[in-house]
Amino acid sequence: MAGWALLPLRVFLGVTFLFAGLQKLANPNFFDSNSNSSIQAQLIASARSSPIGFLITHLIEHAVLVGVVISLGEIAVGIGLLLGLWTRIAALGGAALAFGLFLTVSFHASPYYTGADIVFFFGFLPFIVAGAGGVLSLDARIAKRASEELGLGDPTPYAVTFAGVQEFCGNYEQGSCRAQANAPCAPQGCPVLESGHRSIAARGGKPDDVDRRTVVIGTSAAVAAGVIGVVIAGASAGLGRLFGRAPKAQSTTSSFGQTSSTTTTPSGATPPGQPLGPASQVAVGGAATFTSSNGDPGVVIQPSKGKFVAYDAVCPHAGCTVSYSQAGDVLVCPCHGSQFKVSNGDVMTGPSPTGLTPYKVAEGPNGELYIQT
Ligand code: FES
Repeated sequence: MAGWALLPLRVFLGVTFLFAGLQKLANPNFFDSNSNSSIQAQLIASARSSPIGFLITHLIEHAVLVGVVISLGEIAVGIGLLLGLWTRIAALGGAALAFGLFLTVSFHASPYYTGADIVFFFGFLPFIVAGAGGVLSLDARIAKRASEELGLGDPTPYAVTFAGVQEFCGNYEQGSCRAQANAPCAPQGCPVLESGHRSIAARGGKPDDVDRRTVVIGTSAAVAAGVIGVVIAGASAGLGRLFGRAPKAQSTTSSFGQTSSTTTTPSGATPPGQPLGPASQVAVGGAATFTSSNGDPGVVIQPSKGKFVAYDAVCPHAGCTVSYSQAGDVLVCPCHGSQFKVSNGDVMTGPSPTGLTPYKVAEGPNGELYIQT
């Protein structure tokens, strides 16, 4: 029953991990270091916020390799679970991936249960313990075939109550066994059960012959599944590059370099705060990025002529850097898709638990922008 009870979870995890791996490979932006949603951008954000940031720092220069390994790992886990092939190993790999993503991407999710990775991690644990449970799985078919090749019966275990055995045995008589000279009827020492069993040793084999044969057949099946997985992954990456790359939109986000020095003009007072640069550098309906005095990335937007808003661009969910999307007129986090209102930084779509921190921004008489953090 455990196999049937776990089947919906197994299918969900398998489909999700297979899809996640293929989607990464098919998305050209995932490997484009200039993209906010690239593996490079995600590693850089994780290095700043993860408790294992010191390790991730070393992976940034190998970002493409890390991305490929994660994608292929997810595909392997997905195929393994869906086919029920080497299910325990696939589940172990899935749990390791989910735990790694929990430490790097969703560690700061608050409350903790809003991060999916911790849930995936625990979702894999039953399969590490029980495998596919013999249900709709290649593992079960392979074990059966290995057993049959060695002249043994179906290895699938069936639970039968002792009362049931007593009933179909035919030798039970008022607590005693007719077949064993009136000995008590008991599971151990039952002549009927024992006579039906011919061990592999009695057939001239070694005790672990079935296990060996199972491993040999299972390895062949895993290699075949691996080849199919690589072909699907390659096709997904190729098709993604053929049809997936959206035309590069004209960027409406510029960037302020080092903050300029303050200058005052006689015609008005200079606003307080950190000078950014000329207001003309922020297009109407566009944005510019800067580094605020506390070291955080910031973004200033001019939603309508002469009106400016500015925010700390660190996403409160897990610390990725949000950016302005002119198409949606929202601030978007590339890591888990949180969206924030341009007008006040409030959360429109989670998982971010809170909105962005707003900065006061003002245009000075000299045409410069100033922010107060
Ligand atoms: S870091 Fe997760 S939504 Fe922004």
